[in-house]
Amino acid sequence: MEESSAVEVEPAPGTGHERAHGGAPWWRGASIYQVYLRSFADGNGDGVGDIAGLRSHLEYLAALGVDALWINPWYRSPMADGGYDVADYRDIDPLFGTLADAEDLIAACHEHGLRVIADIVPNHTSDQHEWFKAALASPPGSRERARFWFRPGRGAHGELPPNDWRSRFGGQAWTRVKEADGSPGEWYLHLFTPEQPDLNWENPEVVAEFDAILRFWLDRGIDGFRIDVAHGLAKDPALPDLGARADDSEKFGRPDTLGHPHWDRDAVHDIFQHWRRVADEYPGDRMFVAEAWVTGLDRLALYVRSNELQTAFNFEFLMAPWRAPELRGVIDDTMRTLGAVGAPATWVLSNHDVPRHLTRYAAADGGGGRWRGEPLTGPEDLALGLRRARAAALLTLALPGGVYIYQGDELGLWEVEDIPADRMQDPTFANTGRTRDGSRVPLPWSGDAPPFGFSPADATAEPWLPQPAAWRDITAARQQGDPTSTLELYRMALRIRHGNPALGDGTLVWDDAPADVLSFTREPGFRCVVNLSAAPVALPVGEELLVASAPLTADGELESDAAAWLATKLPARE
Ligand code: GLC
Repeated sequence: MEESSAVEVEPAPGTGHERAHGGAPWWRGASIYQVYLRSFADGNGDGVGDIAGLRSHLEYLAALGVDALWINPWYRSPMADGGYDVADYRDIDPLFGTLADAEDLIAACHEHGLRVIADIVPNHTSDQHEWFKAALASPPGSRERARFWFRPGRGAHGELPPNDWRSRFGGQAWTRVKEADGSPGEWYLHLFTPEQPDLNWENPEVVAEFDAILRFWLDRGIDGFRIDVAHGLAKDPALPDLGARADDSEKFGRPDTLGHPHWDRDAVHDIFQHWRRVADEYPGDRMFVAEAWVTGLDRLALYVRSNELQTAFNFEFLMAPWRAPELRGVIDDTMRTLGAVGAPATWVLSNHDVPRHLTRYAAADGGGGRWRGEPLTGPEDLALGLRRARAAALLTLALPGGVYIYQGDELGLWEVEDIPADRMQDPTFANTGRTRDGSRVPLPWSGDAPPFGFSPADATAEPWLPQPAAWRDITAARQQGDPTSTLELYRMALRIRHGNPALGDGTLVWDDAPADVLSFTREPGFRCVVNLSAAPVALPVGEELLVASAPLTADGELESDAAAWLATKLPARE
């Protein structure tokens, strides 16, 4: 374990889940809060969130009741893609702080009972990474170029890209370089922006380098890693054309990854089985969560086999509209498919890449393709979206497995859809006209006007994206202590989840229920009822209401688009 000797690592905390589930690994049932660092809280007043800002809100997160934080990339980066273009995996970008700040933060999180998951970006580096700079300075066929995907172009003079692969962010996936003598030269592959050259995972040097990077952070007490673009690492070395499939590659949603030359290839599993062995050398249930946009839960299940990664985001659930048959279908498929390999489910509704679920659910039809940025059909009703988002919170927090909460979900933030074009930062915007910035707007903490406490009072710059004036009504300070607020709903639900052995890891049993009502029981003694029908429904008699997402009707019924948690009579009913 090189590089570890100087670092004193505090042990990770024990979670309520571990206590309630007889010592089962924490990640089987954890509630994890995603910190999009640049938008969480700005400690130094430059308009960009940073480690100091996060540090000053750890009490808030501990009081919210989550078990862990996932922090989006904080490494040295030119920020061509919000930090997903990493120039140095072993240092913190000055925008966010220093390596010492990160080490202190990990220790402080552990003191607050919070585990910390870092974001590892293995598919590509930044074009400012030392390896890529060396590759550009070295000739074709060199060891330096073999770490990436350099190829001669097609056409009489190499003027055409090596194949027809497309960037996820629009345009071709290849950029031509100038050789040392200034002549047009080889092309390199980038499945994202040109500033994000893809690494060649066939190369043992790449494997060894990432082993060392994992160890660098494991030695510093990191409890896990979110793996960026986990499904992209293995490429077909023959680099075959996509042909008719090429168009699919640029769509904002998920392309079909079955039998694809660069998505979800079986060779990725060798990499991750190896990573598992590295992490298992460390004490304390270190874990991984894969970002793998793959076609079908059976393909996702391969990532979470018992000798591979522990967890993977379930995007099928995120993609599902707010409609009972679809949600139940995904829940059943998930439990069956992941259960077959012994893995827990991982529920997620929103993140920094998709429109916030409150806004997706604000469409009368429950959302359809809005997760991939499809335009709205029909009116957008944010009050409806909020009701559904509150119900969805109770649904996801009650499902078996782990759950991710994207920062601001707990405040009921909506997608900001009116950011002026000249303020857009997402690199996708220039090429495609679509943007992910609307889910990345800095959090409103307090006060009546921007920056809403996001930056200190003496800040020298505005928040890096503009905040809606209407957020004055939903700042964290405004919601704190108001029992009708979304913040207090989350706090209550997370508090219950923490101490209740029926919640987190385990199974569920569906109850007989009216059409468009999801009702399930979890033992011991817990029931969740979600009403997706148009009319109120009666709740079972003789059960204790633990929490509801909306007030019950005068007759004690559950409103449309509302959810309730109940304590059933003990011993459990049949
Ligand atoms: C992942 C990240 C996204 C980033 C992309 C390229 O999908 O979540 O934000 O742009 O990878 O690294």
